[in-house]
Amino acid sequence: MDQIIVEGGRRLKGEVKISGAKNAALPILVSSLLADGWSSYSNVPNLMDIQSILPLFTDLGACVESSGDRVRINAEGLNNHIAPYDLVRKMRASILVLGPLVARLKKAKVSLPGGCAIGARPINLHLKGLARLGAKIKLEHGYVSAEAKRLIGAEIYLDTATVTGTENLMMAAVLAEGVTTLKNAAREPEITALAHVLNRMGGDVQGAGTSVITINGVESLTPTETRIIPDRIEAGTFMAAAALTRGDVTVLNCEPDHLEAVIHKLQLTGADVRVDGKNIRVKGADKIESIDITTLPYPGFPTDMQAQFMALMSVANGLSHISETIFENRFIHVSELRRLGADITVQGSSAFVKGVPMLSGAPVMATDLRASASLILGGLVAKGKTEVNRVYHLDRGYDGMEKKFARLGAAIKRVKLT
Ligand code: EPU
Repeated sequence: MDQIIVEGGRRLKGEVKISGAKNAALPILVSSLLADGWSSYSNVPNLMDIQSILPLFTDLGACVESSGDRVRINAEGLNNHIAPYDLVRKMRASILVLGPLVARLKKAKVSLPGGCAIGARPINLHLKGLARLGAKIKLEHGYVSAEAKRLIGAEIYLDTATVTGTENLMMAAVLAEGVTTLKNAAREPEITALAHVLNRMGGDVQGAGTSVITINGVESLTPTETRIIPDRIEAGTFMAAAALTRGDVTVLNCEPDHLEAVIHKLQLTGADVRVDGKNIRVKGADKIESIDITTLPYPGFPTDMQAQFMALMSVANGLSHISETIFENRFIHVSELRRLGADITVQGSSAFVKGVPMLSGAPVMATDLRASASLILGGLVAKGKTEVNRVYHLDRGYDGMEKKFARLGAAIKRVKLT
């Protein structure tokens, strides 16, 4: 198991290139199952979550080739409708194969992903939506089965604007007979990116990026080539680190339009944030001002940036109120940030962070992906040595994070423990 060791106290300075977005790559790679022939993808990030989903495609009968940031998938041989427990448990987004498998093979059996550290994360809305499209759904022995001779377009209202739920239903409906309308659909940029891919494959998906998505079903799709959009959460994490270390960092190759809420909040902390085309330069203020944050579905402030901003607020001037409205248990980093000397109180879905002048390094434990990032950020400003354990959580979703921080001047290294 690896460990990351950070010696805090250095201002970050320089440029960092942002990788492709995990949460765009996952559904887009899955969309290859909707067509026969080779689909090609570039700018695919080098992450455990990607490494974990590729064997699932092979298991389902597809051919997969990957080299560097490129992945090619050919689903011509798709012949297995079962996504087994051993593959799904490593990667809960594997549930995204449910819609495409029913659409292509008329049946699917996918191991239920279960909860994770940040919440129960049910998939009831994925299933309700598929049932509205005419699929017969059964839950048995830890698996969900869905069957339909042909899915039929329908109007679907999503009680919550679920991201992967919207993606799953878009991929099911694109090959359904007739028109599907998704109401209260999620509006994240990853949804829009998936819709573009489906349309380039010959699908007819309108309205992605708004809360009403209309899908006119087509008979078949053809493979396409796709470049994965930049990871807005990786970009936001480096921007927060720049502000936190009072540094001067330019994030390159990002999509500033996807980061409006993060940019706005960083500016309120006193950071100087400038957008220049696809690059964003962040110069941290010497005195970080405390701000309040409420996580919301896009275009609101992302829950995936909450932990990193909590690290920032832990050394801000004054009291900050952070309200988490998306996941019921996304404050697990609090007790570890406290080990670094942060003064944080949690009351239900609210965290109150009283800024302290200085954090102090300590051994800490990563508990989920974004929590890990917040602990590394904390370590970057803590006095002395911070040892972040269980960094496999970080490797799920950040492409070479410690190397990128080292290039910006951080004293950070990965240690392999046997
Ligand atoms: N929900 C339901 N029923 C459902 C689906 C969702 O009640 O059928 C609830 C969830 O419990 C949660 C809320 O709806 O309270 C939103 O969940 P959503 O379904 O949107 O989350 P997700 O699709 O499982 C994706 C990202 C997450 C990100 C969330 C919110 C992927 C692969 N994952 O998850 O990313 O936090 O949207 O933006 O796209 C991460 O990258 O660290 C991460 C956790």
